[in-house]
Amino acid sequence: MRQETRVLLGVTGSIAAYKSADLLRLMQRNGWSVRVIMTRAATEFVGELTFRTLSRQPVAIDMFERPGQWEPIHIALARNADVMVIAPCTANVIAKIANGIADDLLSCTALSVEAPLVLAPAMNSVMLAHPATIANLDVLRSRGVHVVESAMGDLACGTTGRGRMADGADVMDAVQSVLAGQHTSARKYGAAERRSV
Ligand SMILES: Cc1cc2nc3c(=O)[nH]c(=O)nc-3n(C[C@H](O)[C@H](O)[C@H](O)COP(=O)(O)O)c2cc1C
Repeated sequence: MRQETRVLLGVTGSIAAYKSADLLRLMQRNGWSVRVIMTRAATEFVGELTFRTLSRQPVAIDMFERPGQWEPIHIALARNADVMVIAPCTANVIAKIANGIADDLLSCTALSVEAPLVLAPAMNSVMLAHPATIANLDVLRSRGVHVVESAMGDLACGTTGRGRMADGADVMDAVQSVLAGQHTSARKYGAAERRSV
């Protein structure tokens, strides 16, 4: 019987993307296997090579790559995850998931995953306080998505405020508590209906 926890770690185009490498290490120290998905924007911040080497697995970026398997890559990734964690999660990806937009591999996988979804938003404090972002996060919470609140502190844009990605330890705590309660689905909609289609 399989015992190892399989984490799908999404990395998006935030200045906090470098913190995902440490988070990946924390997950591995916990005995979890980690598969990384990056957005194209994320690769502007941290090289794919970093995550490929640390995770010892290919990094998924391209929706239309041909990995030699018949199953669409977003479906295969989603099916093989016990939890999906997007850290850091940009305002853009938050908006996409809240609105069902699936125009790249990461957002498409996030919509395909039936495992619990944990997001750690990271952005400028004005972006975080924008009514659109607040509404999108509320929608996601109401659907059972676990949001690890951004922290206060110095921001990369030179200001101070709320918007820093939560510390790795806090993200780990959130993921562990989500996994511990996994007997109930994180998604409050859709799974049964989608299975019957
Ligand atoms: C230097 C720099 C830092 C950025 N940091 C963030 C950030 O922390 N959070 C965020 O939501 N967007 C940030 N952005 C904007 C995103 O990179 C941009 O919205 C991008 O389209 C996000 O793509 P993705 O959501 O597909 O990863 C930053 C842009 C630049 C140039």
